[in-house]
Amino acid sequence: MSTELAVIPAPVSTAARYAHVIGWGMHVPEKIVTNDDLSKIVDTNDEWIQARTGIRQRHVAADHESTVTFAVAAARKALAKANISPAEVDLIIVGTASPEHIFPSTACLVQDALGATNAGAYDLLAACTSFIYALSQASNAIKANEVDTVLVIGAEALSKITDWSDRGTCILFGDGAGAFVMQARSEPGGFVNSILRSDGSGGPSLVVPAGGTGMPASTKTVMDNQHYIKMNGREVFRFATRVMASACQEAAQRAGITIEDIDIFVPHQANKRIIESATKKLKVAPEKMVVTIQDYGNTSSASIPIAICEAIDKGQIKQNDTLMLVAFGGGLTWGAGVLKWDVPPPAPPTRVQTARRSLFYRYARVKSFFRRMIRFVESRVFGDGVN
Ligand code: UT7
Repeated sequence: MSTELAVIPAPVSTAARYAHVIGWGMHVPEKIVTNDDLSKIVDTNDEWIQARTGIRQRHVAADHESTVTFAVAAARKALAKANISPAEVDLIIVGTASPEHIFPSTACLVQDALGATNAGAYDLLAACTSFIYALSQASNAIKANEVDTVLVIGAEALSKITDWSDRGTCILFGDGAGAFVMQARSEPGGFVNSILRSDGSGGPSLVVPAGGTGMPASTKTVMDNQHYIKMNGREVFRFATRVMASACQEAAQRAGITIEDIDIFVPHQANKRIIESATKKLKVAPEKMVVTIQDYGNTSSASIPIAICEAIDKGQIKQNDTLMLVAFGGGLTWGAGVLKWDVPPPAPPTRVQTARRSLFYRYARVKSFFRRMIRFVESRVFGDGVN
C-alpha cells in the first residue's frame, strides 16, 4: 500500500474565489476537572461557579500533553473530514494564547507532525479572538489567490499557564483545540467577511506578565508567579458585554445582511452571563446561540471551533445556515465574522482511507526523524563553518 495520500489538484484559479470550510475537527484531553475537584484546591464551590460562569467542568492537559498535541489531533480530524492529504495544505495558521514556545511557532511543529511538506506556517497571537483573526487571514489569502488550502487551528493548553491557587482564574479555563480546513471554491459562500478590532490600552486587564522581552524570566519572576494568567475579571466582563453585540452588528452590516438573517451565533465561550447579555442586546432567540461552556470552560482561541463541531454533531448547525462568530479577549482584541455553512456533509472515510492516512502520519514521523538525523550528521561533518 502506498504511504502517499493522493494529492487532489488545486481546485480553482479563476478570478472569483471564495474561502469555504471543507473540513472540521476538535480534540480535548481526556482528563476532566469538575467544580467539586476545584473546591478541594481553592476556596470556591460548584454553586458559585455555575451561577457566575455557567461552567460545570473543563478538560485539562496531562503532563505529557501540550498545545501541539491538541492542535495536531484536531487538525488530523479536520483533514480526514475534508478527505485531503496534508501535502495539499498551503498554509497552517495556529491561533493560540498558550503557544508551545516563543519560537519555533506552534504551527511549525504542527506542520512537521502532519507531514504538511508544502505548507507555510505561523502562529497568530490575538488571545481569545485568535480564531476569528486567523479565519480572516486565511480567507483573505485564499481570495487573493496566494493559496488554495489553509489549515486554521485554535489550540490551547491554558492549564499550563494557569495559577491553580488563584480562584479568580483557575475556575474559568480549559484545554483543547479545534481546526478548520478552508479551500478555494468558485461558488459564492464560505467565509464572507469579518471585522477585527483592538484596544491595547486594556492590555493589563488580561496578561501573562513575564517570559517575554518586557519581563524576561528570572528566579524572581518565577517566585512571584509572574508566568501565569493575571486577569481583572470585572473589567474584562464589562468590556466583553460592551463589544459583543456591536461587533456582530458591524460584521452583519459589512456583509450586507441584518442580525435577523443570522441563523446561528457562535460566541466565544468565556462566561454564560456574557453570552446572555449579548443575546439580549441583539434581541435574538436564545436557541440561536451555541453554548458549550458548561462542558469545556473557556478554551480561548479553541472555544469557537469546538463549539461549532459540537453544534454540528447535535444538529444545531445545518447546511446553508448563516453563522455569526464573535469573540473578545486579551490585547484587548475583539472581532466578528460571517460564515456561510454551505458545504454538504462529507462522506465518512472508508477503512482503506483511514488506514492510508494513519500510514501517512507514521511515514511523516519517519521522514522527520531522518531530516533531523541528516542535520545532525551535517553538523558533525561540516562543523559550524559555512564555507
Ligand atoms: O476569554 C476572555 C477571558 N476572561 C473573561 O471573559 C472573564 C470575564 N469575567 C468574568 O467572567 C467574571 O468577572 C468572573 C467569573 C471572573 C468573576 O465573576 P464576578 O461575578 O465578576 O465576580 P467578582 O470578581 O465581582 O467577585 C464577586 C465575589 C467576590 O467576593 P466579595 O468581594 O463580594 O466578598 C469574590 O471574592 O465573588 C468572590 N469570588 C469567588 N467566590 C467563589 C471570586 N471568585 C470566586 C470563586 N469562588 N471562584
